[in-house]
Amino acid sequence: MIALTINGKTVETDASPDTPLLWVLRDELGLTGTKFGCGIAECGACTVHLDGRAVRSCATPLRRAAGKQVTTIEAMSAERVGHAVQQAWLKIDVPQCGYCQSGQIMSAVALLTKNPAPSDADIDSAMSGNLCRCGTYNQVREAIHEAAASLKA
Ligand code: FES
Ligand code: FES
Repeated sequence: MIALTINGKTVETDASPDTPLLWVLRDELGLTGTKFGCGIAECGACTVHLDGRAVRSCATPLRRAAGKQVTTIEAMSAERVGHAVQQAWLKIDVPQCGYCQSGQIMSAVALLTKNPAPSDADIDSAMSGNLCRCGTYNQVREAIHEAAASLKA
């Protein structure tokens, strides 16, 4: 059995250590806010936090997540930065189809936690691994500035 800490709760799984974390989140634990897009670490739809760092859960084997804090989109509304980002997303009306958005939010929260006042270049660099087929990139950038301003106020 592998023990994982997910959104503050310890869970155990008998999946193989090579199983992608995304599979366990979605299929075993029902945490379907984290999306499956490409499965090869190219799109960012499956982004979660591992000890606060944004990682692609489709390319993160369970053995790498063991003993670390895994945080998913489901925990964001209860966190200060996560809540501010979600409010900014609503205010700017960022999502179109929505499929990429939980991954976008997870990357935005990791960025703002590390850098509370990011420049456009900082945002573009931090968000470059999160693709959006609907092209919400400008709204994502605006919402990150909005969240940064609200966190500073
Ligand atoms: S599904 Fe993981 S990066 Fe695309
Ligand atoms: S909102 Fe549709 S893919 Fe990003």
